[in-house]
Amino acid sequence: MRRPLVMGNWKMNGRLEGAKVLLAEVAAGVSGLNATEVVVCPPFPFLHLGGVQGGIAFGAQNVAAEAEGAYTGEVSAAMLKDVGCKYVIIGHSERRTLFGESNAVVARKFAQAQAQGLIPVLCVGETAEERDRALTEEVIGGQIQAVVAVAGAAALADAVIAYEPVWAIGSGRAAAPADAQAVPHFIRALVARLSAEVAAGMRILYGGSVKAQNAPELFAQPDIDGGLIGGAALNAQEFVGICRAADTAARKGS
Ligand code: 13P
Repeated sequence: MRRPLVMGNWKMNGRLEGAKVLLAEVAAGVSGLNATEVVVCPPFPFLHLGGVQGGIAFGAQNVAAEAEGAYTGEVSAAMLKDVGCKYVIIGHSERRTLFGESNAVVARKFAQAQAQGLIPVLCVGETAEERDRALTEEVIGGQIQAVVAVAGAAALADAVIAYEPVWAIGSGRAAAPADAQAVPHFIRALVARLSAEVAAGMRILYGGSVKAQNAPELFAQPDIDGGLIGGAALNAQEFVGICRAADTAARKGS
């Protein structure tokens, strides 16, 4: 059985003092949730707080595509490992659209992360226009194939995939549970063509306007193993509620 994973992506929000308070509140709220893995991904300058809180793993929101060298402003996978990160988000739609990250760059970042023993959380998703033109599977298939071409299918065994429809991110309009399930189901079938074992064990998250209120129905879907949470991760009560929903779904065996 796949262990549920709930990740908070704080994006570029908050200040240090508020981050400490949020972390402490989340740590207290999730301390009894044994079935679910809880991760927060704060901005780089707050990653050092990872040593302070028990029970919550840390992830970064981005990583360099290169190992080391003259890349002003970049942060390497090895550095993230040094400060105790377990996960790193790769290819978030904001990185792809606002910072021009291509599938090829995303694949190199994925490989860098794994080379340092970090678990990449590969974000995939279609825009509203791509969905309207029935291109969802083609777009997402391409995003995954680009990584497989560089890292190999076996690399997906030590990775997480986050399905985040671009139109659902920050819109307050989550995908309907059946639609949210359809794409992870497609992803698992796609990976199964490469390796049935990897596909069966791989955790696939849903992200895009997840709240405590809609989380139970989303997490009850058979191919959704947790969530990648944006706005609601900045509110301890909401985020803890989402983690509780994942824990309840796990205990129900869904
Ligand atoms: P929201 O939860 O704010 O829609 O953001 C989702 C997201 O982008 C997480 O990475």
